[in-house]
Amino acid sequence: MSVILAVESSCDETSVAIVKNRNILSNVIASQIKLHEQYGGVVPELASRKHLEIVNPCIDKALEESQLSWNDIDAIAATVTPGLVGSLIVGMTAAKTLAMVHHKPFLGIHHLEGHIYASYLNEPDLEPPFLCLLVSGGHTSLIHVKASGIYENIGSTRDDAAGEAFDKVARLLGLPYPGGPIIDKLAKQGNPEAFKLPEGRVSLPHNQGFHPYDSSFSGLKTAMLRLITKLKEEKRGNLPIEDLCASFQFTVAKALTKRAICACLDLNLTKIAVGGGVAANSGLRQHLQQEADKHKLQVFFPPLKLCTDNAAMIACAACDHFNHNLRSSLSLGVASRMNIENVSKLYQ
Ligand code: KG4
Ligand code: ZN
Repeated sequence: MSVILAVESSCDETSVAIVKNRNILSNVIASQIKLHEQYGGVVPELASRKHLEIVNPCIDKALEESQLSWNDIDAIAATVTPGLVGSLIVGMTAAKTLAMVHHKPFLGIHHLEGHIYASYLNEPDLEPPFLCLLVSGGHTSLIHVKASGIYENIGSTRDDAAGEAFDKVARLLGLPYPGGPIIDKLAKQGNPEAFKLPEGRVSLPHNQGFHPYDSSFSGLKTAMLRLITKLKEEKRGNLPIEDLCASFQFTVAKALTKRAICACLDLNLTKIAVGGGVAANSGLRQHLQQEADKHKLQVFFPPLKLCTDNAAMIACAACDHFNHNLRSSLSLGVASRMNIENVSKLYQ
């Protein structure tokens, strides 16, 4: 059993957590949503300054809530890739400093691997192989989790990430940032079949030149723009915002579900773990569960707090690597991008 303190600061959440293998001892999350809301998206420079301001109080609070002392901590971890470089540097430097001061090993963690490990926090008995549908503000990927630290990225988005599509469509509808939660809320009062929208073209295996499990959301976003403009021109009263949200959400849910189920069946996998901020979406949860049941596949959704960015999932990934004797060098740097298949490069 190992105990890890991890720092997550890849985007707009400063988070520090302490995890004992797959058990959360504390998970402090300071969201910057209020700061970035007025700009309609994350402003990188403001994000890194805020991380710097808040990271130390978050570390103190995480330690206090866990009721542990530094002696109880086996290693310190931080997200080092992918993400906003300035933001990643703040969390990584804080973690490396703690590692040096307290003479503990340091582990650099891949953020997307963290989203995969969020499922283990909720389902301690879950073991590979399984398929992970990773849907966040920056990523839409289907990852074949073969074993601890062994991944194959079998599908990605060709353009916008699923969460990015939610955020952009919310903006078209005049809704605040981040768009996912508010679209999800409004969609509950709308008709998902009210408008027929395109699901994205890259779905079929015989579609030469495209990967069968890739997705595309830019066509859907353009269709939403055209539809909203047309409805506004017709000036038939207020925009049917609930129906627009419900139809958009249902289309995204269908597109993601179709690819995940298809990949799972093709690879003979029986379990799908969903991760990333969009895993919080109620429409996706409902549709994917319904389709998975038809094929007798198991689906795992982390609780909402573990779907969006948090350090507990980073600490959980670090625990597993620590238990496999992996350590990072203190000279490891951050990277804005890195394929999850190359995670072993983060360790000595
Ligand atoms: O994983 P995450 O916290 O950060 C990234 O690593 O990107 O995901 C944030 C994204 C945002 O685009 C947000 O709009 C979306 O997750 N999101 C949702 C919901 N809650 C958050 N999208 C759809 N439905 C939700 N309920
Ligand atoms: Zn994330």
